[in-house]
Amino acid sequence: MPVKKRLANLVGKASALPARIRRLILERLDFERAKLEAENSILQAKVASLAGVVGELGVRYSESSREYEDKILKSHAAASLAGSDGPIRHPDSWVNFSDLSRIRDYKPTYRFDGPFVNGNHKFYSECPTGLMDIGFCINVGIDGFLSRADALKLYELAYFCEGEILELGTHKGLSTSILCQALSDARSRHFLETVDIDESANREARKNVKNRPGGQLARFNLIDATRFMDGLIGQNRKFALIFVDHWHGYQATYEAAQRSKKLLAPGGFVIFHDFNDPSNLDLQSDYGVYRAVIDSLIPDKDFEFYGIYGCCALFRKIS
Ligand SMILES: C[S@@+](CC[C@H](N)C(=O)[O-])C[C@H]1O[C@@H](n2cnc3c(N)ncnc32)[C@H](O)[C@@H]1O
Repeated sequence: MPVKKRLANLVGKASALPARIRRLILERLDFERAKLEAENSILQAKVASLAGVVGELGVRYSESSREYEDKILKSHAAASLAGSDGPIRHPDSWVNFSDLSRIRDYKPTYRFDGPFVNGNHKFYSECPTGLMDIGFCINVGIDGFLSRADALKLYELAYFCEGEILELGTHKGLSTSILCQALSDARSRHFLETVDIDESANREARKNVKNRPGGQLARFNLIDATRFMDGLIGQNRKFALIFVDHWHGYQATYEAAQRSKKLLAPGGFVIFHDFNDPSNLDLQSDYGVYRAVIDSLIPDKDFEFYGIYGCCALFRKIS
């Protein structure tokens, strides 16, 4: 029952009482009603000011992403004129904050003959999907939330990468198995460091990855991703590829992006899962991948946007 109606009922009940008690009770009820009204108007003012903050943040992110879009399109034109034969950028795949949408197509970053690197790469373009009744999730025997385009991009980046790989968020080993298989297919001598905080998922991941191609190349770590990255920075380790997929919140993603600056070797790639997930649009949800990447990498002249594939955004450390 609404508070006002309950108060009116109480006033009705009080009128049946002796006059002195009735007066005392009515005074008290008046006092409580005034207090409630004051609290209600404070609450409404707070909600109005929160709505203002949310609106301002929305404008800020659509403006910064629009400015960025102009910048990358200009620099892309310059790169095409220069006739670069290095890795391929797809700046036109950029999405503005207000246009975030779920899945983009796979397009190659490296130059190779045909649409796929090899048969194992092609497999991810036609593998079964629908895992856990989620239409886009690939179904290759390990639980996880990767689309075909995500899997194709991870395989390709690992296949061609010329250094160690760092993965944040092992879960049950789906992306780990794809990265390891690509390293193995490329006869790479490099390793993959993967980190997670969930002990039981990690046990499953070790089992899942162990007997798959390249499984012996994975080093499993059970520790918070930010702390793990700090340790690697302390050891002066460098990586050719970093896959960020541990937590979709702003703080965790921002910390990972900032630390990637120190951990990537020049020419290395960092790829963020969930970047174009529409949940990032809700500024009150815990999704903050898009905003964290914009805040960390876009002001940094050493990083260049390479493209969006599946749910992932790819950036390269250019110097
Ligand atoms: C989306 S899943 C990773 C999926 C995996 N990359 C795949 O494709 O199969 C996210 C994982 O990150 C882990 N995680 C969450 N917060 C973390 C943190 N602060 N440090 C390390 N791992 C974290 C979770 O336990 C979870 O297993």
